[in-house]
Amino acid sequence: MTAVEERRAHIDAVLRKALRKAHGAPAPLVEAMEYGLLAPGKRVRPLLCSFACEAVGGDWTESLAAGAAVEMVHAYSLIHDDLPAMDDDDYRRGQPTVHRKFGEALAILAGDALLTLSFQTIVENYRPAVAADCCLELSRAAGACGMVGGQVDDLMWDGRIATPPREPTLEALQAVHAAKTGALFRASVRLGWRVAQGDTPTEDAMRDLAALDEFGRCFGLVFQITDDLLDVEGDLATTGKRVGKDAARGKLTYPVLLGTERSREQAVRLAEEAFDVIRRFGPAGAGLASMMEMLLNRRS
Ligand code: IPE
Ligand code: IPE
Ligand code: MG
Ligand code: MG
Ligand code: MG
Repeated sequence: MTAVEERRAHIDAVLRKALRKAHGAPAPLVEAMEYGLLAPGKRVRPLLCSFACEAVGGDWTESLAAGAAVEMVHAYSLIHDDLPAMDDDDYRRGQPTVHRKFGEALAILAGDALLTLSFQTIVENYRPAVAADCCLELSRAAGACGMVGGQVDDLMWDGRIATPPREPTLEALQAVHAAKTGALFRASVRLGWRVAQGDTPTEDAMRDLAALDEFGRCFGLVFQITDDLLDVEGDLATTGKRVGKDAARGKLTYPVLLGTERSREQAVRLAEEAFDVIRRFGPAGAGLASMMEMLLNRRS
């Protein structure tokens, strides 16, 4: 087992434990929540959260509940993203999507329940000052000015939500990516940082946060560029989801706007910016750097 695989096993154990809080709820709901949350995803967000915590000198095991909370928001966003009213996908994480297996009503409700369980998990695991900051951070990232807003913008570009005609520019594309994907990555590193602080973070810690924030911004963009590239170049067997659907739906993506080669160049350039910004953490930042390397070489 590699170090990352080992950490992933810890993350899954915490996710399973957090899900026990839903026991006692109607059985089909619990089953749909488990199916969506525990399916074999990469757990990138909790991994980032733990590596950010480590980069600033924290004990990464203390970041696990915060990372699990972000993963719950992520899993809910995927369940809803796949619904017929949105991307209408039938495959996710190598298995039928939640609505395909459990029906649309349960998929919507399992997503709702995962979103609320995420905040419950934070409040039950951290002392009040830390929990309040983490809830604020995560709610901003998940909501109208974060992931949900980005999803709306994404659907406005593919015509599912009516909007006046707009110019498809790189700035417009980056704004979609920053919100729909970037916001949760930034929240992941910011939560990892927050759990490593006392009740009142020092000024030096605030400078660490600025560096992590910039890393999270670059990470989010590289992540969505490579996700878009995989939709063009990947296959179902390795990505675990159907490919070729962005173009079919007329989505605004990096490969559409810049072509695959220039998209990849952009990803490499952003990754270099990210490596630069975490140099301040020295060897403690190695985990964050390895996550970025993983993105550049990802096939799923
Ligand atoms: C996929 O996210 C959805 C996007 C934000 C582009 P991931 O690629 O992190 O999905 P899992 O968690 O590994 O399934
Ligand atoms: C989904 O982006 C982003 C969120 C769920 C917030 P995509 O629609 O590109 O993700 P995939 O390709 O279906 O995983
Ligand atoms: Mg989508
Ligand atoms: Mg999708
Ligand atoms: Mg995609």
